[in-house]
Amino acid sequence: MKRVDDFRLRFGKNEYVPIMVGGMGVDISTSELALEAARLGGIGHISDAMVEDVSDRKFDTSFVKDKTKFYKFNINNMDKSVVQFDLERLADAQRRHIGATMAAKQGPGLIFVNCMEKLTMNGPRETLRTRLNAALDAGIDGITLSAGLHFGSFALMADHPRFREAKLGIIVSSVRALQIFLRKNAKLDRLPDFIIVEGPLAGGHLGFGMDWAEYDLMAITQELLAYLKAENLDIPLIAAGGIFTGSDAVRFLEAGAAGVQVATRFTVTNECGLPAKVKQEYFKASEEDIIVNGVSPTGYPMRMLKNTPAIGAGIRPGCESYGYLLDATGNCAYINSYNREVAAHPDQKTVVVMDKTCLCTHMRNFNCWTCGHYTYRLKDTSYKKADGDYQMLSAEHVFKDYQFSVDDQIAMPEKEEA
Ligand SMILES: Cc1cc2nc3c(=O)[nH]c(=O)nc-3n(C[C@H](O)[C@H](O)[C@H](O)COP(=O)(O)O)c2cc1C
Repeated sequence: MKRVDDFRLRFGKNEYVPIMVGGMGVDISTSELALEAARLGGIGHISDAMVEDVSDRKFDTSFVKDKTKFYKFNINNMDKSVVQFDLERLADAQRRHIGATMAAKQGPGLIFVNCMEKLTMNGPRETLRTRLNAALDAGIDGITLSAGLHFGSFALMADHPRFREAKLGIIVSSVRALQIFLRKNAKLDRLPDFIIVEGPLAGGHLGFGMDWAEYDLMAITQELLAYLKAENLDIPLIAAGGIFTGSDAVRFLEAGAAGVQVATRFTVTNECGLPAKVKQEYFKASEEDIIVNGVSPTGYPMRMLKNTPAIGAGIRPGCESYGYLLDATGNCAYINSYNREVAAHPDQKTVVVMDKTCLCTHMRNFNCWTCGHYTYRLKDTSYKKADGDYQMLSAEHVFKDYQFSVDDQIAMPEKEEA
């Protein structure tokens, strides 16, 4: 049987190990994780979700503190429409995060940034324009447009000197989504350099409704491959979502995918940004613990562990500090739900909000444990220690397991001394 290393992902004349480590916000796919993927010859993603907060943590800047102070007067006001991002500061944070990652890059691979359209930031066009162009300024190798429709995103970068040089791609979950994207961008005379097809078993937000279980990644991959062939479009297609072993990946590569994007297996590596305690929750999860629900204010279903602290937590909306999900009118679905509960329980100090969650605050604090469908298999990828915890893995170990494994085998790490 073949192994992933028998294949190569080609961008022009350059060849890469056909493994992309997917973007995981907020700073779950850290620079360290992305850098390992690039060092090993593949493609790593960082994410620009809540980049001001990420910058504060990494570079000791004070973007969040300053914004909170600036909008302090509005904290008890449920109308958040005044809360805006300062675009200069946003660009500064983006350039720091991406510039520092690119400066540390070693090896033959690439680093891309995952940019979610659903981070509408009370100014969807201008904030996205700022994020995309600042990423190009900072020398990012490529940008993956994700979580949202992105019909106008290429146009937002069209005047940047690197628009035709950087690798630009998009995540879709159907032929239809790709068709619309291509139609809307036809006049720019610039095709995407890669397309990621993400199926229903992925982590994070899903590009499906609550009927996600009726879809199948291999079937959608084949539809997209047939569409690209019929249209004479030679664009590498990368399959993502539920690819757990090297052999799973080989099945997609043999079917005609140019690469795979994987994430879940890397959530239990040293380089992943989740706190150690949360990584153990992922290791220990069973199949029944993994749910898809509608608590994300974005309106997209999201997969997470069912004991995630974000579910039911009725915290005050944190938009003055964050506000990444405020729509073009300054609203967020969580604010409505929170207000409803406060109005229904006027005498209670704290409320429980079940239908939506304050995603910014909870993602920022690693309290929304979003995960892929096969998280329950992570326990089969490492050793359980005497204290009941699992031995952490290295990103290199997981990457090489994808690259070289055959027969659906999973390589175990070197056992640590007890
Ligand atoms: C913890 C976690 C967080 C994720 N966050 C994001 C995100 O912020 N943006 C995005 O486009 N995809 C996100 N994803 C999806 C991954 O980038 C990837 O496409 C997908 O999970 C691959 O499937 P796998 O996890 O089964 O390997 C996330 C996945 C996980 C596991």
